[in-house]
Amino acid sequence: MSNDASFRSKYGPWAVVAGAAVGLGAEYSRQIAARGLSLVMIDREPGALAATADAIRGEHGVGVKTIEVDLARPDVGERVAAGVGDLEIGLLVYNAAIGTVAPFLETPPALEDAVIDVNCRGPLRLVHAFVPAMVARGRGGVILMSSMSGNFGSAQLAVYAATKAFTLVFGDAIWAELAPHGVDVLTVQPGSTRTPGWLSSQPSDPGAEIMPAMEPADVVREALANIGVEHRLIPGEANRQGAELLAQLPRRQAIEMMSQLTAKLIRNDRPRP
Ligand SMILES: NC(=O)c1ccc[n+]([C@@H]2O[C@H](COP(=O)([O-])OP(=O)(O)OC[C@H]3O[C@@H](n4cnc5c(N)ncnc54)[C@H](OP(=O)(O)O)[C@@H]3O)[C@@H](O)[C@H]2O)c1
Repeated sequence: MSNDASFRSKYGPWAVVAGAAVGLGAEYSRQIAARGLSLVMIDREPGALAATADAIRGEHGVGVKTIEVDLARPDVGERVAAGVGDLEIGLLVYNAAIGTVAPFLETPPALEDAVIDVNCRGPLRLVHAFVPAMVARGRGGVILMSSMSGNFGSAQLAVYAATKAFTLVFGDAIWAELAPHGVDVLTVQPGSTRTPGWLSSQPSDPGAEIMPAMEPADVVREALANIGVEHRLIPGEANRQGAELLAQLPRRQAIEMMSQLTAKLIRNDRPRP
């Protein structure tokens, strides 16, 4: 859906973006605001969140509300709903995720719990918080961020990749349930994308990137063009071709190939839960 007026009438007047301060979430916020929707931007880092929100207010002149909350909280649905109040939310983008890059047996259990909380429970709770009103209105949209890593398990990414498989299957299911009610669901599977999260897993020498990366603006542009059109999206032609090639291999061979790549990622088993 490329026309801004039809996008606004289908998914406006307000969008919620969870994990909005930096990276793909900040880019979703910018491009959604550019289409004329007002925004509720959620993140846990007040400084970065306020800076991105101020820039969007200045550039696009839309309403921007910020909510500072840890999306790992079990009561995240209630917290966010209370912060949003009676604003009419027509689009939910659940973008936030955390992950470890480390061998599974060396990952602290508390960190595994946090990854599952943010990546799996968070989207469920926010869908519960906002989608019933979309169904009642007969229009709306949900964008969930999975990953190409959700297609196969791969070395050093066991829990993160499994949560992204969860997102894929959850997204398929609610797409089927909500389509008859006029609510569109799109599950996005980016490949490598140049964001702060991605940079933290790459070797510091810029020439030594493990896989070529897309820019966040291109990923988000494709996602916003495909909600209401597709139910799943792998952004970028090269990524789509790569996924097709992997899918043709025996699964075991595909896992081994992916694992050879992900074994080169920079170890990070202490991201702030
Ligand atoms: N970049 C890629 O190559 C890539 C590839 C495939 C899939 N994806 C998916 O795309 C989405 C966005 O990725 P990204 O690379 O843009 O991530 P990012 O650079 O790490 O940014 C994620 C944002 O979400 C916030 N966040 C994380 N945990 C939170 C929590 N518990 N409560 C509130 N906010 C929280 C982060 O805050 P902090 O900075 O404080 O953590 C950050 O502002 C994720 O779902 C990711 O899995 C990305």
